[in-house]
Amino acid sequence: MRKPLVAGNWKMNLDRRAGVELAGAVRSHLDGLQGVDSVIYPPFVYIEEVARACAGTALVVGGQNICDQEVGAFTGEVSGAMLRDVGATVVLVGHSERRHVYGETDELCALKVRRGLASGLDVCLCIGETLEQREAGQTEQVCSTQLHGSLNGLSTEDMAKVTIAYEPVWAIGTGETASPEQAGAAHAYVRGVLSGIFNQAVADATRILYGGSVKPSNAADLLSVPDIDGALVGGAALTAENFLPILDAAAEVCVR
Ligand code: PGA
Repeated sequence: MRKPLVAGNWKMNLDRRAGVELAGAVRSHLDGLQGVDSVIYPPFVYIEEVARACAGTALVVGGQNICDQEVGAFTGEVSGAMLRDVGATVVLVGHSERRHVYGETDELCALKVRRGLASGLDVCLCIGETLEQREAGQTEQVCSTQLHGSLNGLSTEDMAKVTIAYEPVWAIGTGETASPEQAGAAHAYVRGVLSGIFNQAVADATRILYGGSVKPSNAADLLSVPDIDGALVGGAALTAENFLPILDAAAEVCVR
């Protein structure tokens, strides 16, 4: 039984006031919903205040990135312990913007996954193919390589703290969404890879989120696909008007 999870990745958007206000709206809405989990990922500098606003509620607050190193001379980086210290309990690793804008490799993602877990954080690992890779028929190969590259060597206990987000790069921030069939096929494939790396029980228990232009108008269709266990939302996570209906859609269709 996988409880649906709807996550909002704010990226480098919103200011302090808007962030706290949005977190308040999500928190109150989530209070009235059964059967759905939610995480918000504010920019680092707002995590503490947003986490304080969400303390004692079901709304979880996470970091968008983490340093692969524990402590020391790494200018501009933020450690897992620091994230924990300001109230984050989960961290995104390998978001496509980290991979494609900042050049993060599977090797670096693997270190970040381990560092997050060692810091006591849950981890949401993002994977997904570019348009070029999809057109070349390499979607499965790319997902497999990213999963193996980042998860190999983890224990089944570690995997209880890991969520996967399948986000086709061509669908992120473009308004273009994978069809429920395309997303469903990729999710089923990802689950098969997890079963190969670990075992069927891990594959069955791991939540696999879809990300890429999820919005109120397409959320229910995507979330009703059996292997889609939730959504990682970017643009539509920036307003309560768009994000709350996605939470509602998950609560309605994802109970299984
Ligand atoms: P989008 O972003 O919803 O704006 O496409 C998704 C993401 O980057 O996680």
